[in-house]
Amino acid sequence: MQAKQKEVDWHLYAEKYDMLLTYNPFYRALQQEVLDLIGTWKIDDGACLLDVGAGTGNYSVFMAGQFPQAQVLHIDNNKAMNARAILKKNARKLPNLEIYQQGIEEVRLQADSVQGMISVHALYAFPDPQEALRKMANWLEPGGLGILIDPGRIVNVVDWQMAIGLRLLSKYGLVKTLKIFREGKPVSQQNQNIRQMQREGKLWTHSTEEFCRAVEQAGFRILESRTCFRGLSDMAIVTKP
Ligand SMILES: C[S@@+](CC[C@H](N)C(=O)[O-])C[C@H]1O[C@@H](n2cnc3c(N)ncnc32)[C@H](O)[C@@H]1O
Repeated sequence: MQAKQKEVDWHLYAEKYDMLLTYNPFYRALQQEVLDLIGTWKIDDGACLLDVGAGTGNYSVFMAGQFPQAQVLHIDNNKAMNARAILKKNARKLPNLEIYQQGIEEVRLQADSVQGMISVHALYAFPDPQEALRKMANWLEPGGLGILIDPGRIVNVVDWQMAIGLRLLSKYGLVKTLKIFREGKPVSQQNQNIRQMQREGKLWTHSTEEFCRAVEQAGFRILESRTCFRGLSDMAIVTKP
Protein backbone atom coordinates (compact mmCIF):
# COMPACT_ATOMS: atom_id res chain seq x y z
CA MET A 1 0.00 0.00 0.00
CA GLN A 2 1.29 3.48 -0.89
CA ALA A 3 1.84 5.90 2.01
CA LYS A 4 -0.40 8.98 1.82
CA GLN A 5 1.58 11.95 0.46
CA LYS A 6 1.73 14.93 2.79
CA GLU A 7 0.39 18.15 1.30
CA VAL A 8 -0.36 21.53 2.84
CA ASP A 9 -4.16 21.82 3.02
CA TRP A 10 -4.59 25.60 2.77
CA HIS A 11 -8.39 25.22 3.09
CA LEU A 12 -8.09 23.55 6.49
CA TYR A 13 -5.35 25.99 7.48
CA ALA A 14 -7.59 28.93 6.52
CA GLU A 15 -10.30 27.85 8.95
CA LYS A 16 -8.06 28.55 11.93
CA TYR A 17 -5.39 30.76 10.39
CA ASP A 18 -6.36 33.93 12.23
CA MET A 19 -5.93 32.17 15.58
CA LEU A 20 -2.27 33.01 14.90
CA LEU A 21 -3.16 36.67 15.15
CA THR A 22 -4.92 36.18 18.48
CA TYR A 23 -2.75 33.56 20.15
CA ASN A 24 0.70 33.48 18.51
CA PRO A 25 2.67 36.43 19.94
CA PHE A 26 5.51 35.79 17.44
CA TYR A 27 3.14 36.03 14.44
CA ARG A 28 1.71 39.25 15.91
CA ALA A 29 5.17 40.75 16.54
CA LEU A 30 6.26 40.00 12.97
CA GLN A 31 3.04 41.44 11.60
CA GLN A 32 3.54 44.62 13.64
CA GLU A 33 7.14 44.93 12.44
CA VAL A 34 6.01 44.68 8.82
CA LEU A 35 3.06 47.06 9.27
CA ASP A 36 5.42 49.60 10.87
CA LEU A 37 7.74 49.33 7.85
CA ILE A 38 4.84 49.69 5.40
CA GLY A 39 3.69 52.71 7.41
CA THR A 40 6.91 54.54 6.45
CA TRP A 41 6.25 54.16 2.70
CA LYS A 42 5.43 57.30 0.69
CA ILE A 43 2.91 56.22 -1.92
CA ASP A 44 1.69 58.26 -4.90
CA ASP A 45 -1.95 58.75 -5.87
CA GLY A 46 -3.03 55.95 -8.21
CA ALA A 47 -0.04 53.74 -7.34
CA CYS A 48 -0.34 49.95 -7.37
CA LEU A 49 0.71 47.91 -4.30
CA LEU A 50 0.96 44.14 -4.10
CA ASP A 51 0.71 41.40 -1.48
CA VAL A 52 1.74 38.04 -2.95
CA GLY A 53 0.50 34.94 -1.10
CA ALA A 54 -1.68 37.30 0.90
CA GLY A 55 -3.69 34.68 2.84
CA THR A 56 -6.49 36.04 5.02
CA GLY A 57 -5.45 39.64 4.33
CA ASN A 58 -3.58 40.43 7.52
CA TYR A 59 -1.28 42.73 5.54
CA SER A 60 -3.21 43.61 2.37
CA VAL A 61 -6.17 44.97 4.37
CA PHE A 62 -3.82 47.23 6.32
CA MET A 63 -2.16 48.49 3.12
CA ALA A 64 -5.54 49.33 1.58
CA GLY A 65 -6.58 51.27 4.70
CA GLN A 66 -3.22 53.02 5.03
CA PHE A 67 -3.07 54.08 1.37
CA PRO A 68 -6.63 54.83 0.18
CA GLN A 69 -5.11 56.73 -2.78
CA ALA A 70 -3.54 53.49 -4.08
CA GLN A 71 -4.87 50.24 -5.52
CA VAL A 72 -3.85 47.17 -3.51
CA LEU A 73 -3.76 43.76 -5.20
CA HIS A 74 -4.13 40.79 -2.86
CA ILE A 75 -2.92 37.69 -4.72
CA ASP A 76 -3.62 34.22 -3.37
CA ASN A 77 -4.80 31.04 -5.07
CA ASN A 78 -6.76 29.68 -2.10
CA LYS A 79 -10.51 30.32 -2.00
CA ALA A 80 -10.89 29.79 1.74
CA MET A 81 -8.04 32.18 2.59
CA ASN A 82 -9.47 34.78 0.20
CA ALA A 83 -12.99 34.35 1.62
CA ARG A 84 -11.68 35.57 4.96
CA ALA A 85 -9.89 38.46 3.32
CA ILE A 86 -13.13 39.45 1.54
CA LEU A 87 -14.96 39.57 4.90
CA LYS A 88 -12.30 41.96 6.24
CA LYS A 89 -12.39 44.08 3.06
CA ASN A 90 -16.17 44.41 3.35
CA ALA A 91 -16.15 45.09 7.10
CA ARG A 92 -13.62 47.89 6.62
CA LYS A 93 -15.20 49.17 3.39
CA LEU A 94 -12.05 49.09 1.26
CA PRO A 95 -12.96 49.57 -2.43
CA ASN A 96 -9.25 49.94 -3.30
CA LEU A 97 -8.46 46.34 -2.24
CA GLU A 98 -8.73 43.86 -5.12
CA ILE A 99 -8.60 40.19 -4.31
CA TYR A 100 -7.13 38.10 -7.15
CA GLN A 101 -7.75 34.39 -6.78
CA GLN A 102 -4.77 33.26 -8.82
CA GLY A 103 -1.50 31.46 -8.32
CA ILE A 104 1.55 33.68 -8.67
CA GLU A 105 2.52 31.53 -11.65
CA GLU A 106 -0.64 32.67 -13.51
CA VAL A 107 -0.50 36.38 -12.72
CA ARG A 108 0.55 38.79 -15.47
CA LEU A 109 1.27 42.43 -14.65
CA GLN A 110 3.15 45.14 -16.52
CA ALA A 111 6.84 45.60 -15.87
CA ASP A 112 7.69 48.52 -13.54
CA SER A 113 4.01 48.98 -12.55
CA VAL A 114 4.12 48.35 -8.77
CA GLN A 115 5.32 50.92 -6.23
CA GLY A 116 5.41 48.69 -3.14
CA MET A 117 5.16 44.94 -2.62
CA ILE A 118 5.25 42.41 0.16
CA SER A 119 5.32 38.66 0.38
CA VAL A 120 5.22 37.17 3.86
CA HIS A 121 5.68 33.44 4.52
CA ALA A 122 4.46 32.38 1.10
CA LEU A 123 7.45 32.12 -1.28
CA TYR A 124 8.42 28.68 0.09
CA ALA A 125 5.03 27.31 -0.96
CA PHE A 126 5.13 28.58 -4.56
CA PRO A 127 5.84 26.02 -7.31
CA ASP A 128 8.96 27.94 -8.44
CA PRO A 129 10.07 30.51 -5.83
CA GLN A 130 12.99 31.81 -7.93
CA GLU A 131 10.72 32.41 -10.93
CA ALA A 132 8.15 34.09 -8.63
CA LEU A 133 10.86 36.42 -7.30
CA ARG A 134 11.96 37.20 -10.85
CA LYS A 135 8.38 38.13 -11.84
CA MET A 136 7.97 40.27 -8.73
CA ALA A 137 11.24 42.11 -9.39
CA ASN A 138 10.11 42.75 -12.95
CA TRP A 139 6.81 44.26 -11.69
CA LEU A 140 8.46 46.59 -9.15
CA GLU A 141 9.12 50.08 -10.47
CA PRO A 142 12.69 51.38 -10.19
CA GLY A 143 13.00 52.96 -6.74
CA GLY A 144 9.93 51.05 -5.46
CA LEU A 145 10.07 49.18 -2.16
CA GLY A 146 9.46 45.58 -1.16
CA ILE A 147 9.45 43.48 1.98
CA LEU A 148 10.17 39.79 1.38
CA ILE A 149 9.95 37.31 4.25
CA ASP A 150 10.26 33.56 3.97
CA PRO A 151 10.71 30.69 6.44
CA GLY A 152 13.96 29.10 5.29
CA ARG A 153 14.63 26.59 8.02
CA ILE A 154 12.81 23.33 8.73
CA VAL A 155 10.06 24.15 11.20
CA ASN A 156 10.40 22.51 14.62
CA VAL A 157 6.74 22.17 15.54
CA VAL A 158 7.38 20.96 19.12
CA ASP A 159 9.74 23.85 19.85
CA TRP A 160 7.13 26.31 18.54
CA GLN A 161 4.38 24.71 20.61
CA MET A 162 6.54 25.00 23.73
CA ALA A 163 7.38 28.66 23.07
CA ILE A 164 3.77 29.61 22.34
CA GLY A 165 2.43 27.37 25.14
CA LEU A 166 4.61 29.09 27.76
CA ARG A 167 3.33 32.51 26.69
CA LEU A 168 -0.29 31.31 26.70
CA LEU A 169 0.08 29.61 30.09
CA SER A 170 1.29 32.77 31.76
CA LYS A 171 -1.50 34.80 30.14
CA TYR A 172 -4.51 32.44 30.25
CA GLY A 173 -3.70 29.56 32.64
CA LEU A 174 -3.77 25.83 31.93
CA VAL A 175 -7.43 25.19 31.07
CA LYS A 176 -7.73 27.91 28.44
CA THR A 177 -4.28 27.08 27.02
CA LEU A 178 -5.31 23.45 26.47
CA LYS A 179 -8.55 24.63 24.85
CA ILE A 180 -6.63 26.95 22.49
CA PHE A 181 -4.28 24.11 21.52
CA ARG A 182 -7.24 21.81 20.82
CA GLU A 183 -8.90 24.45 18.67
CA GLY A 184 -5.62 25.24 16.89
CA LYS A 185 -4.98 21.60 15.94
CA PRO A 186 -5.50 22.25 12.16
CA VAL A 187 -2.73 24.86 12.30
CA SER A 188 -0.20 22.57 13.99
CA GLN A 189 -1.26 19.71 11.67
CA GLN A 190 -0.51 21.86 8.61
CA ASN A 191 2.81 22.88 10.16
CA GLN A 192 3.64 19.19 10.61
CA ASN A 193 2.84 18.67 6.92
CA ILE A 194 5.02 21.65 5.99
CA ARG A 195 7.87 20.16 8.07
CA GLN A 196 7.53 16.82 6.30
CA MET A 197 7.46 18.45 2.87
CA GLN A 198 10.49 20.58 3.75
CA ARG A 199 12.37 17.44 4.80
CA GLU A 200 11.46 15.78 1.50
CA GLY A 201 12.70 18.83 -0.43
CA LYS A 202 9.19 19.59 -1.75
CA LEU A 203 9.17 23.09 -0.23
CA TRP A 204 11.94 25.67 -0.55
CA THR A 205 14.34 25.86 2.39
CA HIS A 206 17.34 28.19 2.54
CA SER A 207 19.95 29.86 4.67
CA THR A 208 19.88 33.65 4.95
CA GLU A 209 22.74 33.83 2.44
CA GLU A 210 20.88 31.61 -0.05
CA PHE A 211 17.73 33.68 0.38
CA CYS A 212 19.60 36.94 -0.23
CA ARG A 213 21.34 35.47 -3.27
CA ALA A 214 17.99 34.36 -4.74
CA VAL A 215 16.50 37.81 -4.11
CA GLU A 216 19.44 39.57 -5.79
CA GLN A 217 19.55 37.13 -8.71
CA ALA A 218 15.88 37.93 -9.33
CA GLY A 219 16.80 41.59 -9.92
CA PHE A 220 16.15 43.24 -6.54
CA ARG A 221 18.71 45.28 -4.61
CA ILE A 222 18.74 44.50 -0.89
CA LEU A 223 18.64 47.56 1.38
CA GLU A 224 18.62 45.53 4.59
CA SER A 225 18.36 41.87 5.55
CA ARG A 226 17.98 39.97 8.79
CA THR A 227 16.47 36.85 10.30
CA CYS A 228 13.11 37.10 12.06
CA PHE A 229 10.33 34.95 13.53
CA ARG A 230 12.58 33.27 16.12
CA GLY A 231 15.30 32.70 13.52
CA LEU A 232 13.02 30.55 11.32
CA SER A 233 12.59 33.19 8.62
CA ASP A 234 14.63 35.59 6.54
CA MET A 235 13.58 39.14 5.79
CA ALA A 236 14.91 41.30 2.96
CA ILE A 237 13.89 44.91 2.49
CA VAL A 238 14.43 45.55 -1.18
CA THR A 239 14.26 48.06 -3.98
CA LYS A 240 14.96 47.92 -7.71
CA PRO A 241 17.80 49.89 -9.27
C1 LIG B 1 1.38 30.78 5.40
S1 LIG B 1 0.24 31.61 4.35
C2 LIG B 1 0.80 33.31 4.54
C3 LIG B 1 -0.35 34.28 4.40
C4 LIG B 1 -0.01 35.75 4.70
N1 LIG B 1 1.05 36.25 3.84
C5 LIG B 1 0.37 35.92 6.15
O1 LIG B 1 1.57 36.03 6.46
O2 LIG B 1 -0.53 35.94 6.98
C6 LIG B 1 0.81 31.21 2.71
C7 LIG B 1 -0.20 31.61 1.64
O3 LIG B 1 0.36 31.35 0.35
C8 LIG B 1 -0.71 30.97 -0.51
N2 LIG B 1 -0.18 30.29 -1.70
C9 LIG B 1 0.35 29.04 -1.79
N3 LIG B 1 0.72 28.78 -3.05
C10 LIG B 1 0.43 29.88 -3.78
C11 LIG B 1 0.60 30.22 -5.16
N4 LIG B 1 1.12 29.38 -6.03
N5 LIG B 1 0.22 31.46 -5.55
C12 LIG B 1 -0.33 32.35 -4.67
N6 LIG B 1 -0.52 32.06 -3.36
C13 LIG B 1 -0.14 30.86 -2.93
C14 LIG B 1 -1.57 30.07 0.37
O4 LIG B 1 -2.87 29.91 -0.14
C15 LIG B 1 -1.52 30.82 1.69
O5 LIG B 1 -2.59 31.72 1.83
